[in-house]
Amino acid sequence: MSESQMSDSKFNRLFLIMIIAMSVLTIILMVLASFASSDVNEELDAQSDLENTQAVAERISPVGEFAATTVASAPTAVIADLTGAEAYAPCAACHASGAAGAPIVGDATTWANRLTKGAETLYSNAINGIGAMPAKGGMNLSDNTVKAAVDYMLENSK
Ligand code: HEC
Repeated sequence: MSESQMSDSKFNRLFLIMIIAMSVLTIILMVLASFASSDVNEELDAQSDLENTQAVAERISPVGEFAATTVASAPTAVIADLTGAEAYAPCAACHASGAAGAPIVGDATTWANRLTKGAETLYSNAINGIGAMPAKGGMNLSDNTVKAAVDYMLENSK
């Protein structure tokens, strides 16, 4: 082997070692980079999730609102008969406090006076409205529910 051949093979070996070393370095850098970016990627994912949710909410909102109003108005139209206590709950807005001059539930004298008209009259006045009181108290209730509420009010005003 000549001098120059020796140095060629030496160079080749060195060159090979350097290529391997650089490949290893590249892999290490790639791994480090992916570690460093994983936090950022998670944040970006979370942010784009949030943006997507908002965008979807915005896009469907007119439909959602429409659905909400349909759902909200549907049950009141077909509202089932309620028990006296349940039925009285919306009436309490006026009849617990005496708002607008409503006879207060629990006031035996007032209700005894009203009852002299007869229960049927009280029912029909509650259903059709009387004075400052709107028909059915302004609620969309069945006649039976209003009657149950009147009974409950009378029962609790003795
Ligand atoms: C917006 C307030 C208001 C609400 C809500 C309301 N009432 Fe009245 N209610 C009144 C007022 C005011 C009177 C007195 C009216 C009058 O005698 O001039 C009255 C009177 C009555 C009377 C006596 C009627 C009579 O002939 O003397 C009954 C019975 C009655 N309400 C039942 C109910 C029932 C049942 C509900 C719930 C479904 C209800 N009210 C909800 C305001 C209200």
